[in-house]
Amino acid sequence: MRWPRGVDGLCFGGDYNPEQWPEEVWHEDVELMRRAGVNLVSVGVFAWSRLEPREGEYTFGWLDRVFDLLHGAGIAVALATPTASPPPWFSLAHPDALPVTADGTRLLHGSRDTYCASAPGYRAACRRIAAELARRYAGHPALGMWHVHNEYGTTCHCDHVAASFREWLRRRYGDLATLNDSWTTAFWGQHYSDWAQVHPPRATQWLPNPTHGLDFRRFWSDELLAAFTEQRDVLRAAAPDVPVTTNFVLGDWVPVDHARWAGEVDLVAIDHYPTDAGPGAEEQTALWADLARGWAGGAPWLLIESAPNLIHTGGRMHAKEPGRMARHSLAHVARGSRGAMFFQWRAPPGGAEAYHAAMVPHAGPDTRVFREAAELGAVLGRLAEVDAGRIEADVAIVWDAQSWWALRGAHLPSPDLDYLAGVAGVHRALWRSGYAVDFVAPDGDLAPYKLVVVPGLYVVADAAAAAVAAYVAAGGCLVVSYFSGIVDPCLRVRPGGHPGAFRDVLGVRVEEFQPLAPDATVQLSTGDTGSVWSELVHPTGARVEASYTGGRLDGLAAVTRHRYGRGTARYVSTRLDGDGLARLLVAAAEEGGARPVAAAPEGVELVRRSGWLFVFNHAGVECEVATAGVDLVTGADVGGRLRLPPGGYAVVREVGLYGRPTIDTRR
Ligand code: GAL
Repeated sequence: MRWPRGVDGLCFGGDYNPEQWPEEVWHEDVELMRRAGVNLVSVGVFAWSRLEPREGEYTFGWLDRVFDLLHGAGIAVALATPTASPPPWFSLAHPDALPVTADGTRLLHGSRDTYCASAPGYRAACRRIAAELARRYAGHPALGMWHVHNEYGTTCHCDHVAASFREWLRRRYGDLATLNDSWTTAFWGQHYSDWAQVHPPRATQWLPNPTHGLDFRRFWSDELLAAFTEQRDVLRAAAPDVPVTTNFVLGDWVPVDHARWAGEVDLVAIDHYPTDAGPGAEEQTALWADLARGWAGGAPWLLIESAPNLIHTGGRMHAKEPGRMARHSLAHVARGSRGAMFFQWRAPPGGAEAYHAAMVPHAGPDTRVFREAAELGAVLGRLAEVDAGRIEADVAIVWDAQSWWALRGAHLPSPDLDYLAGVAGVHRALWRSGYAVDFVAPDGDLAPYKLVVVPGLYVVADAAAAAVAAYVAAGGCLVVSYFSGIVDPCLRVRPGGHPGAFRDVLGVRVEEFQPLAPDATVQLSTGDTGSVWSELVHPTGARVEASYTGGRLDGLAAVTRHRYGRGTARYVSTRLDGDGLARLLVAAAEEGGARPVAAAPEGVELVRRSGWLFVFNHAGVECEVATAGVDLVTGADVGGRLRLPPGGYAVVREVGLYGRPTIDTRR
């Protein structure tokens, strides 16, 4: 991963939209940025119509002045290509480049993201504006990073997309016979006899073909990636020493396989907006920050957008409690982010996001939010050394966008098979039990981990299943949850009893799924309860650790443990509620030799980045944590015990035995 050029220390700043304001305001902006310790701003994200008001006519003067002003203040620019918001003249000149929804409606400008990423006219216009920006700013000393587009994620179902989809399918399958077989078109007579009959998934009368839908998401991820890489290559050619990135948007509507995209950016950068105003926000932060680090292959990455104040939840905006902005930002830094950036610097004068949070709110700088932002800037300024730290996790969760997408299908045995909820449940249980957690791809390197957890890996290729088995055979400790390993990458059910891909390693054969009604639970012999799912499991070598009690599955296996080679593999056939999942995961972790970060009181989060211990007191009461060293936030030596008020946080450069630092802080 590469770093923004010219930014010394951790990145701090946000999206800056000077085009929304008269120039006098820019001077105040830059003065306030200096006060707040801002060192990097994203500029130009949606400024296409200001940069090219008519086709081929460029107005860079204002942006030149913004660059010079920021440079004078020592602030680096992450210059965006504005391609997420083509100007109205573009839509009228290229009506074929307007996006079409699955039901055939063609959209028009008036918002943002109104383009079809397969339309040749749109792609050419993107390359052109990127080349113009590159020509003009590649040599400017304020340029720190290129920020391509904004949140690749919108879809389209038009004829350009159809043509491109067919090409992608030809490359994947070679011929129609293979496509027909892979999509199981024998079912409901969907057999294709000519490529021209294949379309993007559009509105259908009844349930659509699931493999068609999954392939479309795979294709679209690749198509958007091609749109990104062609801009990236234009920018790289003009300024090879300036890193290029794009901001990853999160959410299960996103047709982008981030793990795959991560290999194409110079710096993994995520936008993160928790949707839960309660403690769920901290859980979401831990989850997505760990995922971002996984995509970055363990290297530092960047939180490039987050909300300074409001959490949007269920159509309402929740004002963050005092101090939460800092805790939220630093919890990302603790997990490898190289700083904290916000959307947005100044609250806009109007428009669709007029009420979105900003570092400088409508009420101006004499506000709690600006003061907290400036305080955070000062704290980040004191934390540069943590950038050398790495998170060392004994535990890994397998993450797979394909299974996430596939489990959105409407044809599955239960609507409650929620991939993200399953992953989040495992992550939460491990996080609350104090374990550092990495995310790995199904075909990633599992060997370094003492425990590997596979939640809801519905789709799995033979090679990945074999790698999981090899990990266990070599002495690894594995936990697999229900509805994993059921289908191959074409969504064809693996025959012979579930979970086809993992039957041998788990030593079980599942004869029948018995999904549960929304409020139903099952009792287990351990006293735990399960919900969402149950099944008829036959151990074929595994030992039963918990059985169902009562009901149709009375006395039959619910949780099993199988010795396989030198390792062990557990299978969990229901969703364990309450502390049940945590107990099971901790037992497996201990058996595998995984160790938690440190013992933390309830509501207190500890994250270790090499020798720096991040401590967050999310609880409503003062807390005390055993640690020795200097708190970089206050500069105080904490002695052997750190005390934090409710909502407080600290970053302790720990000392080991005999007062020696546990890490080398020289960079
Ligand atoms: C992001 C987006 C920003 C802004 C923000 C509001 O996803 O990149 O432009 O819309 O959401 O939360």
